[in-house]
Amino acid sequence: MSCCSDHGHGEGHGHGCSPQSGEPISVQEMNRRKFLALLSIVPGAIATAAIGVPVAGFVVAPIFAPEKREWVSLGAVSQFKIGDTIQVTYKDPSPLPWAGVTANNGAYVRRTGENDFIAFAVNCSHLGCPVRWIASANLFMCPCHGGVYYSDGSVAAGPPPRALSRYNVRIENGELQLQTQEVPIG
Ligand code: FES
Repeated sequence: MSCCSDHGHGEGHGHGCSPQSGEPISVQEMNRRKFLALLSIVPGAIATAAIGVPVAGFVVAPIFAPEKREWVSLGAVSQFKIGDTIQVTYKDPSPLPWAGVTANNGAYVRRTGENDFIAFAVNCSHLGCPVRWIASANLFMCPCHGGVYYSDGSVAAGPPPRALSRYNVRIENGELQLQTQEVPIG
C-alpha cells in the first residue's frame, strides 16, 4: 500500500507522497522541490520590484518633496500702471512631472507706487477657486460660493476663512519678480 492511502502511518516518519505517482517521497526530495519552487519565484519578485519601485518613486516622490520657493519673472516693471490691479500668469518652476497646463499659475499684481507692488494669490482661501478682481467695486469676488474680499485681500463676506494669500515680490534690473509659494486652502 502506498503512503497516500495510509495517512495515519505516513505522518512523523519524514515522508510525503508524490501527487503524480502516489509513491512516497523523502524529506530531502520535498525540500529540493520547495527550493526549486522558490528559485522560480524569486527572480520574478526581483524583476517586479526593479520595475515597480522606480515607477512608484517617480509618481510619489514629488508629492512629498519639500516646497521649493523660487523667484520668477513677471515682466518689466514699466508695464504695470500705478493704481491698477492686473492678473498675471507664470510657470511653476518645479511642476510635478504630469502637471501639464496646471503648471501655469496666476496672481493679481497691484502697483501701489514707483517701486511698490502687492501680489495676491488668485486662489480663494475657502476651497481654492480662482477669484476675480472687480475694479468697479474694488473687490475680489469668488464665483464658487460667493466669497468676497476687500481690495487689500481681507475677507468681506462669505465662507473664506482667511484673507487672500500674498506673495513676496521684488524688483531686479527693471523686472518685477514674484517668489513662488504654496497657497493654503481651506
Ligand atoms: S471657493 Fe471661494 S467661496 Fe468657496
